[in-house]
Amino acid sequence: MFKTINLFLLMKIVLVGGATPVPSGFTFGVATASYQVEGGWNASGKGESIWDRFTHTHPELVTDHNTGDVACDSYHLWREDIKMLKEMGVDYYRFSLSWPRILPDGFTNKINEDGVKYYNNIINELLKNNIQPMVTLYHWDLPQKLQDLGGWANPDLAQYFEDYAKIAFKLFGDRVKRWITINEPASICEDTYGNGKGAPHVFSPGIGDYLCGRTLLLAHARAYHMYDELYRKSHGGKIGITIDSIWAEPNSNNTEDIEAAEREMEMELGWWANPIFSDEGDYPSIMKERIARNSKLENFTESRLPPFTNEEIKFIRQSADFFGLNHYHTWSISNHEYPVNDSPSYQKDKGTKGVQNPNWKPSPLIVPWGFRKLLNWIKKKYNNPLVYITENGIGDNTGILQDKERILFLKVFLEALFQAVNKDGCNVKSYTVWSLMDNMEWDSGYTFSIKFGLYHVDFNSANRTRTPKASALFYKSIIKNKHLDDDVHVVVV
Ligand SMILES: *[C@@H]1O[C@H](CO)[C@@H](O)[C@H](O)[C@H]1NC(C)=O
Ligand SMILES: *[C@@H]1O[C@H](CO)[C@@H](O)[C@H](O)[C@H]1NC(C)=O
Ligand SMILES: *[C@@H]1O[C@H](CO)[C@@H](O)[C@H](O)[C@H]1NC(C)=O
Ligand SMILES: *[C@@H]1O[C@H](CO)[C@@H](O)[C@H](O)[C@H]1NC(C)=O
Repeated sequence: MFKTINLFLLMKIVLVGGATPVPSGFTFGVATASYQVEGGWNASGKGESIWDRFTHTHPELVTDHNTGDVACDSYHLWREDIKMLKEMGVDYYRFSLSWPRILPDGFTNKINEDGVKYYNNIINELLKNNIQPMVTLYHWDLPQKLQDLGGWANPDLAQYFEDYAKIAFKLFGDRVKRWITINEPASICEDTYGNGKGAPHVFSPGIGDYLCGRTLLLAHARAYHMYDELYRKSHGGKIGITIDSIWAEPNSNNTEDIEAAEREMEMELGWWANPIFSDEGDYPSIMKERIARNSKLENFTESRLPPFTNEEIKFIRQSADFFGLNHYHTWSISNHEYPVNDSPSYQKDKGTKGVQNPNWKPSPLIVPWGFRKLLNWIKKKYNNPLVYITENGIGDNTGILQDKERILFLKVFLEALFQAVNKDGCNVKSYTVWSLMDNMEWDSGYTFSIKFGLYHVDFNSANRTRTPKASALFYKSIIKNKHLDDDVHVVVV
C-alpha cells in the first residue's frame, strides 16, 4: 500500500506499508488548560489565580521569567482554536475552566458573566462543529483568594470546590457530557508542596503535599456525588478524574528493585487511584505503613499522612465513571533507603530512586512498552476500569514545523495503546494528545524543549499566529483513515 495525502500546502505525509485498525468506537481529541493558553489574565472581571500571583511575584522561578498574562491569547482567539480542531477532525476537545474567571473570589456569591459567556461561546461553537467538549474543572489555577485561606491544605476547600462544580454543572452541564474534576493531583500537591517550584510556592515536603492530597480526593468525591444526585438524571453525562503516572520499570531483577518499582506505582499512581478505583478504597497499605513508620522515627506524634475516616473511605470509593490517565515517561526504578535523619519528604517515604535509561529505544523519552505495561497494571489492579487517555505527548526542541520526533512518538504510542486494547483487553476508549498548540508550560515558561503543540504558536507576534506542524497532519490522517500505518515518512514539498 502506498499513498500520499497532501493536506496543507507546505508538507505532505507519505504512508507506506500495512495498517493497524483503530479499535471500533474509539475517539480522538487534543487538550489544553486554561492558564496555559487563555491569557486575558485580568480581562473583564476575572479574579487572580495562584499562577498569576506566582509568575508576577516570582519571575525568577520561571525559566524565561515569563507569565501566562497573554499566553496563546485564546481568550480572544478561541475561534481560531476551534478552526484548528475542525481542521484535524478531532472527536472532542479537552479544555479546562478557569475557576477565578467564573468565580473571581473563589466563592459562588459573585459570578463573572463575561467569564461564563466566554465558555458558553466555546462550548456552543464546538458543538456546532460536531466536536464534543470534555471539560476539566480544575487544572491548577486556584483563585488566589482561596490560597490566602490555605489553598488545598485547608480541608474546607473540598466544600468550596463542590460549590464551584455545582455552578459549572448548572451553567454548562446541559451540553458538556464528559467532566474531569481535577487534573493531575500529583502535580498540584507533590510538585508544588514537595519542591516549592510551582504555584502556590509553599515548600512543605512530606506534610503539605499529603494535606493537599487528602482535600483533593474529598473534593473530587463531593463533586462526583453531587453530580450523581442533582445532574446525572437530567444531563446523563460521565464524571471522572485525571491522574498522571509514569511507568516504573525495575532497574534490575533483584527482589528489592522489583519491590521498589511496585512501591513506586502504588505510591505515585495508587495514592490517587486506590482510594477511588480499588475494591477496598483508602490509600494503598504500603503507603500508610511507610509514612507512619517514618513519621514515628522522625518523632512526629501522628503520621504525616492524615487518615480518612471509614465514612470518607466509603464516600471516595467508586466515585468515578472513568479513569482519566495522563502519561508521558517511563523510569527505571531502584530501591533506595534514605537516612532517618533526612528531613521528611515523599521521596524518602517512597524509598526509591529513578533514572531514565539512556539505552532505551527509540529513545529514553519514547518508551511505548512502558505505556502498555502501565495500562495493564491499571487493568489488573482496578478491575479493568473504563480509561480515557486524557494526555500523552512529547516536547520538541524548537517548536519546529517538521516535528518528526513527535510523529514517531504518536505512532509508537498509539501502536502500544491499540495492542493494549486489542491484545490485552484493556478498556481504553479515547486518546488525547497534549497539546493542541505550543503554550505556557508552567515554570518552564515558553522555553524550547517544552513545546508540546501539534500547532506552532508564534509568541513574538501580536496575533499569536498558529501554524500546523507535520504531526497535526499525521494525527489528522489517523483520525480520518481510522488506521495506523506501519511505516510513515514525512516529506517536505
Ligand atoms: C491588566 O494587566 C495589565 C498588565 O498585564 C495592565 O496593563 C492592565 O492595566 C490591567 N487591566 C486591568 C483592567 O486591570
Ligand atoms: C531480568 O531478567 C530477564 C529474563 O532473564 C531479562 O530479559 C531482563 O533483561 C532482566 N532485566 C534487567 C533489568 O536486568
Ligand atoms: C527522635 O527522638 C529521639 C529521642 O529523643 C532521638 O534520639 C532521635 O534522634 C530523634 N530522631 C530524629 C530523626 O530526630
Ligand atoms: C494580525 O491579524 C490581522 C487580522 O487578521 C492582520 O491584518 C495583521 O496583519 C496581523 N498582524 C501580524 C503582525 O501578523
